[in-house]
Amino acid sequence: MSKFYVTTPIYYVNDVPHVGHAYTTLAADVIARYYRLQLGKNNVFFLTGTDEHGQKVAQAAEENKQTPKEYADSVAPRFKEAWKSLKIYYDYFIRTTEKRHEAVASQLLQKIRDNGYIVEGVYKGWYCVGCEKFLTKTELVNGRCPLHINKEPVYQEERNYFLKLKELSKVILEKIKSGEYEIHPISKKNEILSRLELGVEDISISREGVSWGIPVPWDKNQTIYVWVEALMNYYSATQFLDGKKRFWPADLHIVGKDILWFHSVIWQALLIAADLPLPKHIFAHGFFTIDGQKMSKSLGNVISPKELIVRYGVDGTRYLLLSAVKFGSDGDIEYSKFDEKYNADLANGLGNLIARTAKMAESVNLPGRELKDISLNIGVAIQLVKSDVKEFTRALDLIWKKISKADKFINENKVWALERNLKISALEKLTDDILQIAADLKPFLPETAEKIERQFKGPEIKSENPLFPRL
Ligand code: ME8
Ligand code: MG
Repeated sequence: MSKFYVTTPIYYVNDVPHVGHAYTTLAADVIARYYRLQLGKNNVFFLTGTDEHGQKVAQAAEENKQTPKEYADSVAPRFKEAWKSLKIYYDYFIRTTEKRHEAVASQLLQKIRDNGYIVEGVYKGWYCVGCEKFLTKTELVNGRCPLHINKEPVYQEERNYFLKLKELSKVILEKIKSGEYEIHPISKKNEILSRLELGVEDISISREGVSWGIPVPWDKNQTIYVWVEALMNYYSATQFLDGKKRFWPADLHIVGKDILWFHSVIWQALLIAADLPLPKHIFAHGFFTIDGQKMSKSLGNVISPKELIVRYGVDGTRYLLLSAVKFGSDGDIEYSKFDEKYNADLANGLGNLIARTAKMAESVNLPGRELKDISLNIGVAIQLVKSDVKEFTRALDLIWKKISKADKFINENKVWALERNLKISALEKLTDDILQIAADLKPFLPETAEKIERQFKGPEIKSENPLFPRL
């Protein structure tokens, strides 16, 4: 039986959810909704969650004078609330502090060791707590991590366990080249390939000095490196949840470009070492800047989904984020551009078409209509969501072309001025077009699609409040 399993990164629990996290999670939501329409609800699994171990979280907890677990419990709900407010319907929200996750991660690491892929060694190097990773000489810029200029990297020298990445990377290189799993966009795939071709060293997968983590099963003085057990969440959820085993391997991991290496190389190395099947597709999208600047707490320019929802509504926010940039590319966010697009595409474009058609339909008491089987009427536009490149923007463009076409039909035929019988048949055609547009919109703007359907399915079509009030 056909199934689809899509994931987002599990976000560091200490962060406040912002538009970057929202973008990734929204993309996964659109894809999950699309596949639910295609395959049925029970054949889709959409996983998101929070990453709760490691130094970063332990430090944030300390600043809050809480134990790491108390702290994580108090802040994890912020992500759940954010996703609820955006009408993002995940199937499960995993937290890495769940005992069930800890158990699976621990077993998996043991298996990797039993298979001979783990060796002991000493790690010396600079660690960036912001990234939760060791930085190589080439990654340091003036002795600092370029992504966390305010935090000095810490020199560490400790006894660690290492994964034989050097050996595994050769297998990985071949698997990527042969297309055994896909990485998109292609430019990013090529970056990964060149880095693999340059050669990689074994990586440390445990910590001696970090107590906030899952114990290494054969050595209680060490914890599992936070990135290693975080990646394992994608597998562990399918193992500890009832009836989800059949969803492994994942069909699609959606991530930001910052963490593609972990998702397209390190994760595969762990899985190969554990004799497990590999995820089929990894998609890395680009990064948002705000008014041309990097989004950061210190610059105070972080945009939360909440403030967008207050201004543009839930579906307005979903539309603006999904249409902001081609999926895979970087892009800039500006309120002025969002305002303009909101007014043009939503208040005028879609909103106006619905309002004027409903008003005319009401004037002739037009009964509502029915698209025979909505699941069979999934439009060409949203098929693009299924394509390897996940063309959200092109899909939305196609839907908006249908909206303009319907508008043009009204204007060119002066539908409002037609004599009654002609007007009725013109409005019947428009109603069918609108119901098709609503079907197309389902994965993207679910509430709006539902409202339109309710309004145009009857029993009688009535004028209603504007879908997207002008700003
Ligand atoms: O890396 N633009 O979590 P994280 C677009 N816990 N997307 C952005 C963004 C921006 N400016 N900023 C963040 C971690 N993101 C690990 C993941 S997974 C096993 C462990 C999004 O909280 C984007 O998806 O730092 C990016 O990859 C992710 O947030 C990083 O989230
Ligand atoms: Mg980050």
